[in-house]
Amino acid sequence: TGYTALDYGFVNTAATKSAITYIDGDQGVLRYRGYPIEQLAKNSTYLEVAWLLIYGELPTADQLGEFDEKIRRHTLLHEDLKRFFSALPHTAHPMSVLSSAVSALSTYYEHQSDPNNPEHVELNTIRMLAKLPVIAAYAHKKSIGQAFLYPDNSLGFVDNFLKLNFGVLSEVYQVDPVMSRALERLLILHEDHEQNASTSTVRLVGSTGANQFSSISAGINALYGPLHGGANEAVLDMLGRIRDSGESVQRFVERVKNKEDGVKLMGFGHRVYKNYDPRAKLVKESADEVLNALGVSDPLLDLAKELEEIALNDAYFQERRLYPNVDFYTGVIYKAMGFPTRMFTVLFAIGRLPGWLAQWREAAGDPQTKIGRPQQLYVGAEERNYPGLS
Ligand code: CMC
Repeated sequence: TGYTALDYGFVNTAATKSAITYIDGDQGVLRYRGYPIEQLAKNSTYLEVAWLLIYGELPTADQLGEFDEKIRRHTLLHEDLKRFFSALPHTAHPMSVLSSAVSALSTYYEHQSDPNNPEHVELNTIRMLAKLPVIAAYAHKKSIGQAFLYPDNSLGFVDNFLKLNFGVLSEVYQVDPVMSRALERLLILHEDHEQNASTSTVRLVGSTGANQFSSISAGINALYGPLHGGANEAVLDMLGRIRDSGESVQRFVERVKNKEDGVKLMGFGHRVYKNYDPRAKLVKESADEVLNALGVSDPLLDLAKELEEIALNDAYFQERRLYPNVDFYTGVIYKAMGFPTRMFTVLFAIGRLPGWLAQWREAAGDPQTKIGRPQQLYVGAEERNYPGLS
């Protein structure tokens, strides 16, 4: 049956056409629907960019207001679903809680989850955007043993999320505008990144006819891995280990270069960017600014900068064109905001959600979409006869 190209990791194979995100990895360029990421991160909001990704154009003020309003109306979780969290250990990783709860969420909307019904698709787009942050905050609260708060629909998307995470029942919570804007910017930077592993997972699962909840739950699991979204957590763990071990940064870099115990410089390197990741540039710029504004000083930020400086001047990293990626500096900021390390990848998931939704919808609406079904090159035994038990 014809020629099958072998392409481990899909390094050379496009699985789809897409009109959503453009990346030029050599130049370090990232655009959503044609708009440079720098402009969006500076001037836009999470929901505005979500609209752009999902519907293809920037919204008018009215469209955005209506979108925001609809999302606020769908933030509540069914009370039974809230009890679902009690069945999981408080030690559970919040990413596992998140993907499980999104899968569980699907059971409440089975009657309205037909991927071929535009009304269902629209409704579940809103539901996912409204409820994922609530589930994420409950995963956080569960891990620290605090009571869940109800969403406060007088607040915008990011402020509501901050309150759900850091508010406590007995006190009035005041949103810090510096923290809110900083988080909004980080979320915007994560909103889409074309056919990365989790988005490809969402598309692959979606290609079977699975609904948005099932597809996105699968995407969350793909994001969890340390080579993908899990890298932001792994960076902080790495920085902490270097600090606690007393090992010099230079010595750590030597171990990476020698590939000792498979140790990598987490938060460095990218399949597509062979230049500075434009998102990392923006995150780095805001790290100092945000920490100062929040009145936090963290030696791990200095350690990260030292590590970057040494790596960028080292032939190993230069030859392989390894630069900091988006995950290198985000963790330091999330930490300064008060998020525990294990929540970092959950924040990435909230950021990436509009991209997953947009890509799922693009694939579902594309008549060329077929079930994703890679080929293999078989290298096993030739035909042989069953000999019976010896
Ligand atoms: N530290 C040390 N060496 C590295 C690193 C690193 N972080 N990344 C790549 N290399 C080396 C790799 O060992 C290989 O060397 P050699 O040619 O001697 O075998 C060479 O660079 C090429 O790397 P590769 O593994 O073929 O590249 P890839 O495109 O398959 O992998 C990557 C991309 C992101 C998985 C990888 O760079 C990596 O593991 N980075 C660390 C994890 C990380 O930060 N992930 C976040 C990615 S960005 C945001 C996201 O998706 O979440």
